[in-house]
Amino acid sequence: MEPTATTAPTLPRSIEEIRGEFPILVRQIHGQPLAYLDNGATSQKPLAVIDSLDRYWREQNANVHRGVHTLSEEATALYEDARRVLAGRLGADRRELVFVRNATEALNLVAYSWGRSNLSAGDRVVVTEMEHHSNVVPWYQVTQEKGAHLDWAPITGEGRLDLDALASLLERGPKLVCVAHVSNVLGTINPVAEIARMAHEAGALLVVDGAQAGPKLELDMAELGADFYAITAHKMYGPTGIGALFGRRELLEEMPPFIGGGSMIRKVSKELITWADLPAKFEGGTPAIGEAIGFGAAVRWLEELGLPAVHAAEAELTAYALERIAEVPGLTVFGPPAGDDRGGIVSFAMEGVHAHDISEILDRHGIAVRAGHHCAQVLMQRLGVPSTTRASLAVYNTRDEVDQLIDGLLDVRRVFAL
Ligand SMILES: Cc1ncc(COP(=O)(O)O)c(C=O)c1O
Repeated sequence: MEPTATTAPTLPRSIEEIRGEFPILVRQIHGQPLAYLDNGATSQKPLAVIDSLDRYWREQNANVHRGVHTLSEEATALYEDARRVLAGRLGADRRELVFVRNATEALNLVAYSWGRSNLSAGDRVVVTEMEHHSNVVPWYQVTQEKGAHLDWAPITGEGRLDLDALASLLERGPKLVCVAHVSNVLGTINPVAEIARMAHEAGALLVVDGAQAGPKLELDMAELGADFYAITAHKMYGPTGIGALFGRRELLEEMPPFIGGGSMIRKVSKELITWADLPAKFEGGTPAIGEAIGFGAAVRWLEELGLPAVHAAEAELTAYALERIAEVPGLTVFGPPAGDDRGGIVSFAMEGVHAHDISEILDRHGIAVRAGHHCAQVLMQRLGVPSTTRASLAVYNTRDEVDQLIDGLLDVRRVFAL
């Protein structure tokens, strides 16, 4: 029988059409066309999101869940519709989705609410060497407070999580394992479903930092097996100031509130205060209403493009970027080779040149990249560098922009007479 060729899913619109939906991409920087390759920090926003925010502020603004007037009812319906869309994106029940400010707040919510009431002296929490500070600092704080231990799961030389070493750490019986779905420095896509199975067999819960996975991977909470999963809208073509925490319902039901105030209570008396049902129990105070609605618009936009096609386009461009960057002499590129477990984040160091100088020279070429420790100082120590330069790709990036980056890097070498 003839082998059947598998074809990668394709985007429903041309790259030119998609780029046309992002007004900012026509900007020139220092007289050069903008090549925005800093999507790991934050992505640009399509008209679908900009228009939804504009409409909300012009025509729909009111507080939610309290007024009995038409505008408030409309705003509440739009806010809850955004939650419904997001629940669809994650394959979750809407009660399992708490709106927060960003991934950082989502992870802090778990540390302060679950961590404070479930961790005690001598308990163990596992984090990995590739974590962003958002998935380290809250665990450091709560383990310090409780007299618990923080264990570090190492990475391999290629920048993958060392699963054998993780298995050994699991033998010590941790209560919690905290892992990034996609590394913001290495681009590594961690095998979350496998890690969940390993953690659960060892009796631990799994917290996943999905900040970099949100814009590119299909996410099904049941398939992944995460107990908690954090995402942030601004890296998913949505607004800043809004993110979400998924938590398994039984866990969220048992957890105490994180922030006390209006909207999160059922009844308040002098003697007793009781909590609202999920998810309101975790949404004290007036939420970021317009931003949540814009988040819903971003998720709709992404789903309409199709996550498998978004991921395939990025994987193809990543392979091209890794191939081209290998042509630049004197670079060390971090992270696994192009493949199924590699997202569109390309970090590198150039011998003899500081990452900030690289970034500044690239800026003169119209190229936006990130330079620094990327909020991953333990990983920098593991890689043996103080900082890296990072190009991070989105669905609107092109081969021409990658070529622009390579020309810029060759210019860096000229400037430094390398
Ligand atoms: C892997 C990872 N986790 C967490 C965060 C924090 O996201 P936010 O600043 O939106 O809370 C980031 C942001 O760069 C990230 O890349």
